[in-house]
Amino acid sequence: MSEVNRRLLLKTRPEGRVKNSDFDLVEEAIPEISDGEALIRTTYLSLDPTNRVWMTDVPGYLPPVQIGEVMRSGGVGRVVASKSDTYKEGQLVNGFTGWQDYVVASDSLPFTPLPEGMDVPDSAFLGALGMTGLTAYFGITDVAKVKEGDTVVISAAAGAVGSVAGQIAKILGARVVGIAGGPDKCAWLVDELGFDAAVDYKAEGWKDKFKEATPNGVDVNFENVGGEVMEAVFGRLNIGARIALCGLISGYNDAEASTGPRNFSNLITRRASVQGFLILDYFARIPEAVGQIAAWMAEGKLQSRETVVEGLENTPESLNLLFDGKNTGKLVVKIAD
Ligand SMILES: NC(=O)c1ccc[n+]([C@@H]2O[C@H](COP(=O)([O-])OP(=O)(O)OC[C@H]3O[C@@H](n4cnc5c(N)ncnc54)[C@H](OP(=O)(O)O)[C@@H]3O)[C@@H](O)[C@H]2O)c1
Repeated sequence: MSEVNRRLLLKTRPEGRVKNSDFDLVEEAIPEISDGEALIRTTYLSLDPTNRVWMTDVPGYLPPVQIGEVMRSGGVGRVVASKSDTYKEGQLVNGFTGWQDYVVASDSLPFTPLPEGMDVPDSAFLGALGMTGLTAYFGITDVAKVKEGDTVVISAAAGAVGSVAGQIAKILGARVVGIAGGPDKCAWLVDELGFDAAVDYKAEGWKDKFKEATPNGVDVNFENVGGEVMEAVFGRLNIGARIALCGLISGYNDAEASTGPRNFSNLITRRASVQGFLILDYFARIPEAVGQIAAWMAEGKLQSRETVVEGLENTPESLNLLFDGKNTGKLVVKIAD
């Protein structure tokens, strides 16, 4: 057990890619707990594209992280001391750990106890059984309302949200086409996850390949990327198409907002609907989704995959792996056993 609490505090707002030097790595005493609180040792941090957005000074769905504050992040950890009826020593929990070794669970910063005895690594509670898996679940079932026979196109398909979204759409009987960077990711989607087709958007002539992969057009677009990728999908929409707008990662490192898709008017001619959504709005329904995803995993219908990097001190620059496409499935940082 670490003798101190190492914490990463935001020092300067990054310009473009994140640098380790944008953060101060400080060592503080392990916090004391009061009645009603529990001390949690963080084991895995969740690296999410939205972390990059929280570092900018632009108000969003959560306030920007302030200079000098510990970097906000999801994570899982173990309760190492408790003066609360809610948390038991040794229990696995998830919540907003922040980029630090220890965090105090309290009424104002609650954590969710996780089920024990499932045959999955702790990191899966940040992947298919965590916020990214839940985002995929509600985006596919509630926002896009995918049904049997739909052609569903998913961008960033080999990432945390995309890989789970595609598998759920398959389970619901859709024809699923993934868009991802590189032949290895595309092979994984088709050979391992059962996607019907995958298109490598980094390969020459990919838009022709995408057309071939969607001979009957696109009924549902689960959009994670934006930019040129989204524009290509908008060019293939069927009448009445639904777009579940989950994220626009291609612009998160840019100082200026992009001008948007040039073929936006296709939404008019195709009578398409776009719905943005946030997983925060679905918190009350988490047990339903976790139960269903866990059941699909136990039946062998859905896989969770994580890319694990190590070391709290490497966390800031590891975030860039998401923007370089170096992760397959969920990207996590292991900071303790
Ligand atoms: N609405 C919500 O509540 C919610 C919740 C969670 C996540 N999200 C959003 O969901 C999206 C996926 O998040 P995630 O956590 O699952 O990340 P992820 O997909 O695991 O990682 C990001 C992936 O995006 C791709 N990418 C990065 N830059 C790109 C670019 N310029 N053009 C095309 N592809 C690019 C990379 O894959 P390639 O190798 O294929 O390029 C990378 O692996 C993000 O937009 C995120 O903001 C939304």
